[in-house]
Amino acid sequence: MTEKKSDKKFAIIGGTGLTKLENLEIVRREIVMTSFGEPSSALAFGSIDGAEQEVVFMARHGHAHNIPPHMINYRANIKALKSVGVTSIFAINAVGGIRDDMIPGTLAVPDQIIDYTTRRVNTFFESNLSHVTHIDFSYPYSKHLSQRIFDAAQKQGIDIIKGGTYAATEGPRLETAAEIQRLKQDGCAMVGMTGMPEAALARELNMDYVSICVNANWAAGISDELITMEAIDRNLLEGMAKVRQLLAQLISQF
Ligand code: HPA
Repeated sequence: MTEKKSDKKFAIIGGTGLTKLENLEIVRREIVMTSFGEPSSALAFGSIDGAEQEVVFMARHGHAHNIPPHMINYRANIKALKSVGVTSIFAINAVGGIRDDMIPGTLAVPDQIIDYTTRRVNTFFESNLSHVTHIDFSYPYSKHLSQRIFDAAQKQGIDIIKGGTYAATEGPRLETAAEIQRLKQDGCAMVGMTGMPEAALARELNMDYVSICVNANWAAGISDELITMEAIDRNLLEGMAKVRQLLAQLISQF
């Protein structure tokens, strides 16, 4: 029997623009039901570009991309990944750029989050508890996995922005220019609708979690250009091509 390269089990949660991974050779699909309900998609198990390391892929918005950010069953998604033994999650998130360097089409790995969401169930620790539980969430993203991403990006010659605060908004509408100015004053570099509660739920279940963000557009009021779905799709296409390349390198490193 060949020795397994890593004891870790990796999952990729694909967001807008990444409902499937073309370079994932799928060996099997599993529909996992959880005590919190049904996850967004069946789990696809396979390997990327023939690498030894198995990965699990989940489409956050469903395979048909028809589950909006505020309707995602984040608890079912994270629980389903945990139940199949996943230890480490690479989350792919589309964002709007707030900070000057968050140019549409570029990639960024955030190192902090501010949660502005208002109506999401955001914890597993709610009822039937033997004791009240507060997780440490000072540093929401895995520094170790972030470094692995930077190493892989360097190997592939892909520019990636290191760090920045992710603002998680409720959606599904985009923000007003004034809301974005407030986020900017708060120190946020990028804004998206899916970063929370996903990151916190992964921490509650003791899983390593990191995000690769793709800048889809300038956030509201940051540029004079109107935000159009056509431009978002174009930038996501460019960004996700880099994400696929990055993930292949990344997974082969373990
Ligand atoms: N705001 C919130 N979420 C987003 C944006 C945005 O401008 N672009 C992509 N996801």
